[in-house]
Amino acid sequence: MRIDTTLIPSSSHLQNLASQSVVVMDVLRATSVMVQALSSGVKEIIPVTTVEEAFQLAKSFPSETRLLGGERKSRKIAGFDLGNSPREYITAKVKGKTLILTTTNGTKAFHAVSSGKTVLVGSFLNVSAVTQRCLHQEADVILYGSGDEGELSLEDTVCGGMIIDRLIHLGKPPIELTDASQMALIAYQRFQRDLVEALRLSNHGRTLIDLGLGEDLSFCAQTDTTVLVPTFKDGVVRI
Ligand code: MLT
Repeated sequence: MRIDTTLIPSSSHLQNLASQSVVVMDVLRATSVMVQALSSGVKEIIPVTTVEEAFQLAKSFPSETRLLGGERKSRKIAGFDLGNSPREYITAKVKGKTLILTTTNGTKAFHAVSSGKTVLVGSFLNVSAVTQRCLHQEADVILYGSGDEGELSLEDTVCGGMIIDRLIHLGKPPIELTDASQMALIAYQRFQRDLVEALRLSNHGRTLIDLGLGEDLSFCAQTDTTVLVPTFKDGVVRI
């Protein structure tokens, strides 16, 4: 198994995806929101790239069956039902609904890698389950960090490194790591005893703390709160 990691979203990683398992990670906070929302009973999630697209799509659902969620500049969007804090996605609010989600980096990443053999939603919340799914698929893996407006993001790199660490321990040799995967593994080894520290040091983590959303960091740094592995297929994320 060959494991590559996209530290910075780039088109050079988007060739030959059809034979690879892609894991999209946006730990702070889009993929953590997706995993949490589905754990709380959301029926499906439609990730879209623009706010306009979200409002347009919402018109095709009866209003009681759908929710608009997401952020711009990490804040809830005017006219939306929910922001992008996973703590907002509780069963009482979301059960049985279709979530139309738009975020700065995360939702775009899914469309960039849609030609993958499978496109999985990865986060610390479901890290072991994602690892197991990659092992069962017996395909090469690409860990796709959504980044931070085109820049590397520490929290996605560390999450990728944690998946790599587990694949190395549980997978069948030979396992080949690209240089980017080696870097992600080293980043994980640095923070493995305190994942919240990585999130606190990260650029986006500091922004969230400044906005009074610091509790999202400890929420998103929890590991294995669920065994769900959401999959993105035909434009929709489902379990
Ligand atoms: C993103 O997609 O960039 C985010 O999830 C940002 C955020 O939650 O603040």
